[in-house]
Amino acid sequence: MGKIIRLDPHLANMIAAGEVVERIGNVVKELVENALDAGAKNIGVSLRESGLASIRVTDDGSGMDQADAVLAFERHATSKLKTERDLFRIATLGFRGEALPSIAAVATVELVTSTGSAEGFRVVSKEGRLVESGLAAAARGTTVTVTKLFHNTPARLKFIRSTQAELAFIVELVDKYAITRPDVAFTLENDGRTLSRTSGRNDPIEVLAAVYGLAAARDMKAFSGRDRDYRMSGFAASPLVNRASKAYVTVSVNGRVIKSLRVVQAIVDGYGQTLPHGRYPISAIDITTDPSLLDVNVHPTKLEVRFSEEATLLRLIETSVRKALSGTPLIQPAVLPEQVEPSLIQPAFAFGTGADRGVDELRETAEPYVAAPQNGPFPAFDYLGQYAGTYLIFQNADGLYLVDQHAAAERIRYERYRKAMGSPAMATYTLLVPIEIGLSRSAGIAASAMEDELRTVGVEVIRSAADTIVATRVPAWFPRGLEAEYIETMVETIQNEKTLSTADIRDALAKSLSCKRSIKANRYINATEVATLLADLARCENPFTCPHGRPIVVKIALREIEKWFKRVL
Ligand SMILES: Nc1ncnc2c1ncn2[C@@H]1O[C@H](COP(=O)(O)OP(=O)(O)OP(=O)(O)O)[C@@H](O)[C@H]1O
Ligand SMILES: [Mg+2]
Repeated sequence: MGKIIRLDPHLANMIAAGEVVERIGNVVKELVENALDAGAKNIGVSLRESGLASIRVTDDGSGMDQADAVLAFERHATSKLKTERDLFRIATLGFRGEALPSIAAVATVELVTSTGSAEGFRVVSKEGRLVESGLAAAARGTTVTVTKLFHNTPARLKFIRSTQAELAFIVELVDKYAITRPDVAFTLENDGRTLSRTSGRNDPIEVLAAVYGLAAARDMKAFSGRDRDYRMSGFAASPLVNRASKAYVTVSVNGRVIKSLRVVQAIVDGYGQTLPHGRYPISAIDITTDPSLLDVNVHPTKLEVRFSEEATLLRLIETSVRKALSGTPLIQPAVLPEQVEPSLIQPAFAFGTGADRGVDELRETAEPYVAAPQNGPFPAFDYLGQYAGTYLIFQNADGLYLVDQHAAAERIRYERYRKAMGSPAMATYTLLVPIEIGLSRSAGIAASAMEDELRTVGVEVIRSAADTIVATRVPAWFPRGLEAEYIETMVETIQNEKTLSTADIRDALAKSLSCKRSIKANRYINATEVATLLADLARCENPFTCPHGRPIVVKIALREIEKWFKRVL
């Protein structure tokens, strides 16, 4: 008895229409999703020439009987949807009955399938027409082979500029499904070379290690959370293991790999400032919800979904990620070349040239060991000296630590300012002599329009001319003599961030102000100042990155140093 039915035209028309197969990767995605829907535990994807010559997807799922194997090529014929109501609670990856016919329309497709209980069946379709069918020996499951893709649509063939890009897309896709379904064994090969292989042993860390390497996977933190509508769980790498692309974030909902900028952003927000700006953590999240709370019928590629109560879900993700990451070590290990070229270190030992300045400087500023009084989140280490007027060097038995003094000071001020601006009873005082501040015309106009916002951060101004404002009241924490400069920065910041909430404006303000006043690089500071700086830094909420996400502390492990000198291997 077949399972596939033809959808009635009304229902068929309700389904998001459009091109299903525009690129090679779309074919792979549809075939893999069909295999998963069929309950496969082993899925093999085998490509020739990145799929341009052929794509073969083999699964050990339910298979189809003879009637279904033919019906599967008809448009709007599906076993996954029956009534209109089903469209609002889709629990399978496919639901349109569009994929196979769309692929068949632009390629030669051979389908060999067996339910395991009867003999297998083989169907061949060329450019949308069934040309062959008959019995075939086959184990339970389905193998679909697609060749001559886009041969009858030269425009699309031309559109595929680089098979390398297609292959990258396919690898990413298969990897993401492997991460989402650790209970399924995936293999992906191209021209006989294995590109991905997972065991299907249902061990998510094992899959993450197979995809991203052992080092990244080992440090991953599991997170999970739930509320009335959603359950979700995932893995988040240490913020130090970050990448420039969102592609390293796998998002799935009810087993479907999706694209969601907002979910990615919620994960990134969970990292707070530990993650440098514009970088993404290696991470994976799997969301489960009742299918009726999800609209997957948004786009023909089924890569986008609409969540109901999305804002609550995003908050849940952000807080769960934050919770899981609290307490992860954040000192950046120094990434160093395996082999240090002799030419790189030689100059430090050359006498009588300008090159030994580095060593001198270190010696000049070195003070007797000063144990940092309150190391807090830092390991105990001793101060050795300052290098290049910027980096404070510390040591302990584990190695050397470099602290960027400017970044450290910026972090301290930033947290102070944010606190000062956020406290409701912020102390302010009236200026005996109001301060005139000249601004550009547009800034002047903007400033008078932002009187209310300025008042929330303790500043009162009146506009005296098109390009001049007069400040009458300022917060007590403003450094004396810098009032005008600070107010200018505030006006600029509020102007630039005008779409943000008050909290965001305060944050942006604290960032720009902290940058202005912090000890600049290239300034000598003495050991007492170092101790104070470190103690202040240790008290910070996040002492490891500056407000712009750059690291404050870098560690060169003793082991690393010993490796340079070939004392250990
Ligand atoms: N690998 C497979 N194993 C078992 N049955 C399959 C397989 N591939 C396809 N089928 C059957 O063929 C039908 C049509 O597949 P097709 O991919 O065209 O549509 P769909 O999966 O129902 O919806 P969508 O167009 O959203 O993918 C499916 O509903 C399913 O019953
Ligand atoms: Mg399908």
